[in-house]
Amino acid sequence: MKKLFLFIIISLPLFAQDVRRDHHVEAVEAFKNLHFFYKGRGMAISPDLIKLYELMGSRGVGTQDLGPIYQRWGLLFENNQAKGLYSVPYKEMKIGVLGCVACHSGKAAGEYVIGLGNKNIDVGQIGQDAYLGMKMWGAIPRSNPAFKEVHDRALAFTKGLADKKISNQTQGLVPTSLIRSWFYQVQNLPFPQNFPRGQVKVPHLWGYGEKRKSGSFWDGEGNGELGGWGIAVELYAGQTPENVREYFAKVHQAEDYLGDFLSPKYPFKIDPEKAQRGEKIYQATCQGCHGEHRRDLQGHPIFESPKHIPLRIVKTDPDRLKALTEELYKLIEKNPLNDVIQSVRKKEPGYVAQKLWGVWARFPYLHNASVPSVYELLLDPSLRSKTFSLKNAGERERFDEEKLGLTSMTPKYESARQVYDTSRSGHSNQGHYFESFKKLDHESRLELIEYLKTL
Ligand code: HEC
Ligand code: HEC
Repeated sequence: MKKLFLFIIISLPLFAQDVRRDHHVEAVEAFKNLHFFYKGRGMAISPDLIKLYELMGSRGVGTQDLGPIYQRWGLLFENNQAKGLYSVPYKEMKIGVLGCVACHSGKAAGEYVIGLGNKNIDVGQIGQDAYLGMKMWGAIPRSNPAFKEVHDRALAFTKGLADKKISNQTQGLVPTSLIRSWFYQVQNLPFPQNFPRGQVKVPHLWGYGEKRKSGSFWDGEGNGELGGWGIAVELYAGQTPENVREYFAKVHQAEDYLGDFLSPKYPFKIDPEKAQRGEKIYQATCQGCHGEHRRDLQGHPIFESPKHIPLRIVKTDPDRLKALTEELYKLIEKNPLNDVIQSVRKKEPGYVAQKLWGVWARFPYLHNASVPSVYELLLDPSLRSKTFSLKNAGERERFDEEKLGLTSMTPKYESARQVYDTSRSGHSNQGHYFESFKKLDHESRLELIEYLKTL
C-alpha cells in the first residue's frame, strides 16, 4: 500500500503535466476559428449571401453531414454548420469568409481531425457555383456603397477559382497555379498560357514547426521560417500587401500554433508483434528517406525536419514542379512582400519525404493523392488502381484497415469530380517504387503497415 502510494506521488507530475497535450488542445481551439478577413478583403463571398446559407442551415436544407453541399463542394458539416466558413460583420453587412480549416481539417475513418487535409474540398466547383450565384445576387440594387467594393472582389476571386484552364479537376486537390498567378498579377504581367495546374492534396500540419525549417510545401521550396507563404492564399483572394503587414503578428502566431499540433492516434486495434516485425522492415526499406520516428517520455512524437528527395529518384508526377521556372523565381524575388515571401531553391526539384506520423489518416497518398492506400504504394505502379472513388472518403465505411487507406468502391453514383482518374494530367500514380520494394511480399507489406499504424 505504502509502495503504491509512493509510486503515485512520484508519477503524478508525469501524468498531470502533459504540457504538449495541453498546447495541442489550445492550438487546435485557436486554429478552428482562424481566418484573415481584414479591412473588407480576403477569401470572401459577396456580402450578405451568407444569410442565405444561414437560413438553409437553420432549416437543415443541404447542410447536413454528408448532404448535397458536402458532396458538391467538399465542405464538412457538423450541426448544420460548415467547418471553416464564417460569418463576419463588416460595415453593416455580413460577409461569408473562408478560413484555414475549410482546407486544413478533414475526416479519416469517421474521425474529424484539425490539421489533416480535407479529402474532398473542391475549390474549382465552389468557384464555379459561387461565381454564378453571386452574379445574380449582385444584380439586385443595393444602397450600401461598401457592397459593390466587396462584391466585385469576391467575383474576381471566385472567377479565378473557377477558371477551367488552371483550376483543379478532382475533389481534394487544390491548384497551386492560383497562388502563382498572384506573382504575375502583382507585377501587372499576363499569366502564361498553359501554365501547369500543379494540383496537390492539402498537406497535414502536425510537425510543421520542424518541417518549416527545411522548406514549406510539398516541394520544400517555400522559406517557411519567414512565415509569409501562409498568407499567400489571402493575397490571391484580393488582400493587399500593406494590409498584410498590419496583421502579420497574427500570421506568425497562427504558424506557431501549427508547431503544437500532435498527430492523431490510430483509432483501431494494432497487433504489437506484427508491428515489431514491421518496424524492422521499415528500418531496412524506408528509413533512409523518411528517417526515424522517436518519441518523448510521454510518448508524443519528436518531430524532425524531413528530407527533400530529387524527382529524378522518387519519379512521382512532375506537374507540381514544372512551374519552377527562372521567370517564377525572379517574380518571387521581386514581390512586394519579398522580405517574408521567399523561396529556398533546392539543388534539383523534388518532393519532401514527409515524416510518417499520423500517416494512417493521410490517404490518398503522395502529393497529388494518386494512390488510395499504403498497400498500393508498396506495389509496382502498374498494379495500382487507375481510378478510385473519393465519395465520403473520410467516413468509417470507406476506411480499409488492412491496406491502410481507402476501400475500393466501384464508381457508381459519383460525379466525375469525385472519381480520381490517374489518366488526368498531374494525376499520375507512377513512382515511389524502389529496388528495395521488390523484396516485399504480401505478408511483409502487411507487417510494415502494422508498424505504420503505430506512428
Ligand atoms: C483552399 C484551401 C486552403 C486554404 C483555405 C488554406 N490552405 Fe494552407 N495549404 C493548402 C495547400 C493545397 C497547401 C500545399 C501547397 C503545396 O505544397 O504546393 C497548403 C500548405 C500550407 C502550409 C505548408 C505546409 C507544409 O507541409 O509545408 C501551411 C503552413 C499552411 N498551408 C497554412 C495555412 C493557413 C495558416 C491558412 C489560413 C490562413 C491556410 N493554410 C489556408 C490549402 C489551403
Ligand atoms: C528514396 C527515398 C524514399 C524511400 C526509400 C521511401 N520513400 Fe516514401 N516518400 C518519399 C518521397 C520523396 C515522398 C513524397 C513523394 C510525393 O509526394 O510525390 C514519399 C511519400 C511517401 C508517402 C506518402 C505520404 C503522404 O502524406 O501522402 C508514404 C505513405 C510513404 N512515402 C511511405 C513509405 C514507405 C512505407 C517506405 C518504405 C517501404 C518508403 N516510403 C520509402 C521518399 C521515399
